[in-house]
Amino acid sequence: MAIVKIPDENKTIRGDEAIASFLAERDIDFERWTPAASLPGDATADAILAAYATKIDALKALGGYITADVIDVKPDTPGLDAMLARFNSEHWHDEDEVRLIVEGRGLFHIHPRDGAVFAIEVEAGDLIRVPKGTHHWFDLCGDRRIRAIRLFQDKSGWTPHYTQSGVDRGFQPVCFGPAYIPASPSQRA
Ligand SMILES: [Fe+2]
Repeated sequence: MAIVKIPDENKTIRGDEAIASFLAERDIDFERWTPAASLPGDATADAILAAYATKIDALKALGGYITADVIDVKPDTPGLDAMLARFNSEHWHDEDEVRLIVEGRGLFHIHPRDGAVFAIEVEAGDLIRVPKGTHHWFDLCGDRRIRAIRLFQDKSGWTPHYTQSGVDRGFQPVCFGPAYIPASPSQRA
């Protein structure tokens, strides 16, 4: 189950409805998504896309997305650190960032133009849409594992534009649970 935290307000939001409502007020779509089939851990990208074709097609029709692919990241994925470094500092895209999490977990931080930064930990069964232009960054959790379906309006629009704000450095890039320790005010950028 997803968790939302607002570190500056020392606030945690749990429960799918409460999270979806909090995010909807900030123009971010979130829903729990029940896969149509249970797939083995080594299922190919094509098998995943085929198994979830109904959901993918519905999202395409809603959001104007034209292509879908599967990102599959494991701790031993070659070039993983370089890949993560592209997305773990504050950036935006010229199109929506849509993810259906199939396996593993990840942590989005969202930086609204007029509000406190909040973090969303997503896991298998979570669907999230971060609208184009939204300032955000992304980290894997400690297990460095995520497999997710991505939807694109135009892949060229998904290049990250970096804000260079340094705001991301004021927040712990760790997922929630026992290891989560909020940054002290003196550590914030
Ligand atoms: Fe992004």
